[in-house]
Amino acid sequence: MIAKVNSCAVNGIDAIVVEVEVDISFGLPVFNMVGLAEAAVRESKERVRSAIKNSGYTFPMDRVTINLAPADVKKEGTGLDLAVAAGILSASGLIPMDASKNYLMAGELSLDGRVKPVKGVLPLALAARENQYKGVMIPVENAQEAAMVREIEVLPVGRLSQLVDHFAGQNLIPPFSLDPGFFRNAAGRGFEGDFSDVKGQIHVKRAMEVAAAGQHHLLMTGPPGSGKSMLARRLTTILPMLSFEEILEVTKVYSVMGMASARHGGIQGRPFRSPHHTISDAGLVGGGSKPVPGEISLAHNGILFLDELPEFRRNVLEVLRQPLEDGRVSISRAGVKAVFPCRFMLVAAMNPCPCGFLSDPSGKCSCTSHQVQKYRSKISGPLLDRIDIQVEVPRVKFQDFMSKESGEPSSRIRARVEKAFELQSKRFLSHGIFSNSQMGSRLREKFCPMDTGCRRILEQASKGLGLSARACHSALKVARTIADLDYSSKIKTHHLAEAIQYRSFDRDPM
Ligand SMILES: Nc1ncnc2c1ncn2[C@@H]1O[C@H](COP(=O)(O)OP(=O)(O)OP(=O)(O)O)[C@@H](O)[C@H]1O
Ligand SMILES: [Mg+2]
Repeated sequence: MIAKVNSCAVNGIDAIVVEVEVDISFGLPVFNMVGLAEAAVRESKERVRSAIKNSGYTFPMDRVTINLAPADVKKEGTGLDLAVAAGILSASGLIPMDASKNYLMAGELSLDGRVKPVKGVLPLALAARENQYKGVMIPVENAQEAAMVREIEVLPVGRLSQLVDHFAGQNLIPPFSLDPGFFRNAAGRGFEGDFSDVKGQIHVKRAMEVAAAGQHHLLMTGPPGSGKSMLARRLTTILPMLSFEEILEVTKVYSVMGMASARHGGIQGRPFRSPHHTISDAGLVGGGSKPVPGEISLAHNGILFLDELPEFRRNVLEVLRQPLEDGRVSISRAGVKAVFPCRFMLVAAMNPCPCGFLSDPSGKCSCTSHQVQKYRSKISGPLLDRIDIQVEVPRVKFQDFMSKESGEPSSRIRARVEKAFELQSKRFLSHGIFSNSQMGSRLREKFCPMDTGCRRILEQASKGLGLSARACHSALKVARTIADLDYSSKIKTHHLAEAIQYRSFDRDPM
């Protein structure tokens, strides 16, 4: 008798339906598993055997063969345990043969029959919706993330025996619905303070508003204690809310990392990731023998903050170039290929020189011009080119710092940024992009026409400041965003002049 139960294998951030076929036939009591199973899956035999016995059922004393189909998809992790056990119990007659066919199941079994949380439950729930299954049977700890997919039934299973009782019609598992309290996520809005906490620094706040509005990458340069980290941490508070589809997209990445279960909370706000400068390239862009997403994917739809940029290893920064361009990263390892999304806003901070006080009015800087050049050359030209907005953050003036007046709150700035987002989404509706920063040369020509005044300013900047062609294009895109914030359909000279100001790094440091 062959029993069939459905589960999933996760590839990248998507789940592929896996059919677990179980055949019990007369013969010596052996337990075989075929179908490209990795070590953790093969080990499931021992867990399943003990879990079945310790749940009070008899493990068949015959020849048990498990086939995991499709056989050409690698199956990893412990998530198939529950489906394998259900398949064996179904083939032994304890679960009615076709009772489970409308569900996708996932869960790790402990030896005593408890069902433990697994990674990738949200992709599984989405696969259930896509393939028109009635629902999913998943560990209790993963119920919240699965319930984000509202169209399917979510049955949380605490023990193997609960699953058997449910299908026997004895103790039905009540379907689970999403608890709004799940979204208490730390990366969310309200956690990192407000823009009004930052005194003075009007021009830096303006640069951040422009960066947020057009999703331009941002570099802040300034002496120690000038508030660079403080400002960066507040950037998510001026970005528009994520749509529900975007929340699902972000949570999928966290789900395959096992970071979306009830213990972690749901991701509702835009992610803010701030990896330490000792991070490896695999940690940043993703990798490993079984490819897992890196920090850039955990920052998808949010912000990747690289504090103390020159301290990052050069090869680590170099690997950022392609994902910055594509918004996705593809990782191939030993025959497995995985693609992860990584559309994030890069925000970097650094000191202007090794001691940090170059251009500070205190005149404390003791660095030689060679030292400054060496320090700055740690950031490659191609990477800098991709950063549209480069702004200097001077130390806050004493009278500003002592002022009782609080600055503009994040909510007001966010309202303006939201308007600019709307304009851009209308503009790029049929162009496959969503922000000014993503415009290629063709779209830039179409949407950033220059009058003679603008042409003259750009020419002067190119000659006077030595702006490269790429830097000029970047200034044009930023000028488009500034015009959007100004509700102006045309780019005016003062929009472009402001955009050119945001190329502080292109100017000579000394
Ligand atoms: N404009 C400001 N308004 C209010 N507080 C400020 C401001 N600037 C700096 N501070 C205070 O100074 C502290 C240090 O700022 P922060 O850590 O952001 O500096 P930084 O520029 O990142 O320095 P470093 O280069 O050393 O990393 C902040 O935690 C804050 O208390
Ligand atoms: Mg800092």
